[in-house]
Amino acid sequence: PPAPAPAEKLLGFAAVPKSLADSVSVPAGYTATVLYALGDPLRASTPAYKNDGTDADFDNRAGDHHDGMEFFALSATGTPSTTASDRGVLAMNHEATTDEKLSSHFLHANGGTTSLPRPAAEVDKEVAVHGISVVEVKKTGTTWATVTDSTFNRRITPLTDVEIGGPARGSALLVTKYSPDGTRTRGTLNNCGNGRTPWGTYLSGEENWSGYFARSATDDAARDAKSVASLRRYGRNQGATSRHGWETAGTDDKYQRWDISKKGASANGSDDYRNEMNGQGYIIEVDAYDKTKPAKKRSALGRFAHESAAFGIATAGQPLAVYMGDDSRNEYIYKFVSAAAWAAADATPTDRIATGDKYLDSGKLYVAKLNADGTGQWIELSMDNPQIKAYAAYQFADLADVVVNARLAADAVGATRMDRPEWCSVNPANGEIYYTLTNNSNRNVNPSGSSQLAPDAANPRAYTDMKGSSAQNGNPNGHIIRFKEGTGAGAATTFQWDVYLFGAESGADATKINLSSLTADQDFSSPDGLAFLKSTGICWIQTDDGAYTDVTNCMMLAALPGQVGDGAKTTLTYDKADGSKLAVDTFVGKKATPDTLKRFLVGPVGSEITGITETPDGKALFVNIQHPGESTSLANIADPTKYTSQWPSNAGYGPGKRPRSATIVITKNDGGRIGT
Ligand code: FEO
Ligand code: CA
Ligand code: CA
Ligand code: CA
Repeated sequence: PPAPAPAEKLLGFAAVPKSLADSVSVPAGYTATVLYALGDPLRASTPAYKNDGTDADFDNRAGDHHDGMEFFALSATGTPSTTASDRGVLAMNHEATTDEKLSSHFLHANGGTTSLPRPAAEVDKEVAVHGISVVEVKKTGTTWATVTDSTFNRRITPLTDVEIGGPARGSALLVTKYSPDGTRTRGTLNNCGNGRTPWGTYLSGEENWSGYFARSATDDAARDAKSVASLRRYGRNQGATSRHGWETAGTDDKYQRWDISKKGASANGSDDYRNEMNGQGYIIEVDAYDKTKPAKKRSALGRFAHESAAFGIATAGQPLAVYMGDDSRNEYIYKFVSAAAWAAADATPTDRIATGDKYLDSGKLYVAKLNADGTGQWIELSMDNPQIKAYAAYQFADLADVVVNARLAADAVGATRMDRPEWCSVNPANGEIYYTLTNNSNRNVNPSGSSQLAPDAANPRAYTDMKGSSAQNGNPNGHIIRFKEGTGAGAATTFQWDVYLFGAESGADATKINLSSLTADQDFSSPDGLAFLKSTGICWIQTDDGAYTDVTNCMMLAALPGQVGDGAKTTLTYDKADGSKLAVDTFVGKKATPDTLKRFLVGPVGSEITGITETPDGKALFVNIQHPGESTSLANIADPTKYTSQWPSNAGYGPGKRPRSATIVITKNDGGRIGT
């Protein structure tokens, strides 16, 4: 018989110190092992990765910039399971690539071409490392490894055929040469946070897709006013250049689609790509258990810079709620509420994508308004809302127009602009919803221009640095806000909020900056990834930071939060440039203690820690290390001693010295659950 489980205390581990080392550090008694890195083959026929810029066939390899992910358990016979903990598939996002001056330099032998036109051979590789991968993983003894030739293994790239679901399906806004009836699009792009449906599928959020498209300097004149307003609101003014210049690689549609200026002969865009960008920016659903099922974009959940998609607690007979954020400066927090009531039998459906059609294609989209008194409203974004119908700045035609242009709809109803909403997650203990607000350089005590905003109750800090310099602009360290739904739970239209945690340096002024009383074992900046994992109920917080990386690499912390309202009202007082005072009341959650917040992991140089999932028994934790060595200059591509990181090869994983994004698996040496 197995040995009795060791005594477990949540957060019983010793805190990991801040670190600038080029390695992954975890607490004593834990082991972190590299599992799945950029370029790792998904097929037996694909050559081992050489990591020298000569590799090809990325459609059959791990993509780059691993981000959100989810473990889907498999029984010993390979059928879907909710309990098996030694075999499963990981579905994961490959958000972007490390690049400089157009080129993804670690993918090319000499660093690649940094001028236009871009060579097709380089572009083909760069496109293919984006998207999603599904890879089987298996434990043998105590060792986890990927299953290279598993029939589950699958890549979805920016070129994969994808269906559009929901109100935008068949809309004139989605008509392209690729899909003249507006029901399909090509691929998924800049996949960042993720989600998991109650019926066992993977959700992935398309985030900074806008930057991949080019527009000519005279394109406004060739479009109608609504189209121009939409493109501007999503960050594509005319003259915008694309991140990688993919549109210059050839005359094939797979390159031409990235230039949304070129007009064809048709009036509706059915022979060109002028609407191509409207095919990106959604939550996309993937059946990780069945690669024969096409992925489907769930347009009812709105189009913006998506991060994660977190379900409220599913209750039989009640609608499902899905919480989401739009990660750009001053953007909004959203919720989708399904029209269909949850049926428990749908937890194990025979057709998972059809179940997605049932719950995710019809319902109501809401945006959050947060009031200064700690209350809030969910405001419906639909043609039923008079504020939407009457909006003069953009006259919405129908629900498809509303969801495709969700940012404009949220503007119309006066929603609250936030400090960059990144991930959200729901506390399984009480249903409260947590959102990371990573930072915002446009928060300013003396706002000027249309982009800057004064601090408000829900985004109350505006200090330049972690130590509290006298300059009063920006929120570089971010905070985590949380909501408690009012009557109706997931379907509620009111909520209460407070700020769970403020990122800060432990030595910073406790009355202005370090409002959560963080110590050296807990201090962090710029929270981004956030997920409550079910086995322990621990809330894991991951950072993507630029403000504290002179002191420590990015990290992951384990937290045991209380609940909304467990802290106190606090007033922050600012000195304005005109000599007056600005007083901002906010609501600060209970201060952190060593028993409620502890640093668990620090990553290698230049990496962001993002993406987390576990086996159902909680004994294996999968975490993604994104873009180690990101700041390595293309000019130094031939000299590994000048790479800012050599992880994971310096951890004994794989050939070559080029840094690689990778999934790690963390186990506890005594076989216990992670986080104890
Ligand atoms: Fe891809 Fe907002 O992080
Ligand atoms: Ca993120
Ligand atoms: Ca981020
Ligand atoms: Ca990143």
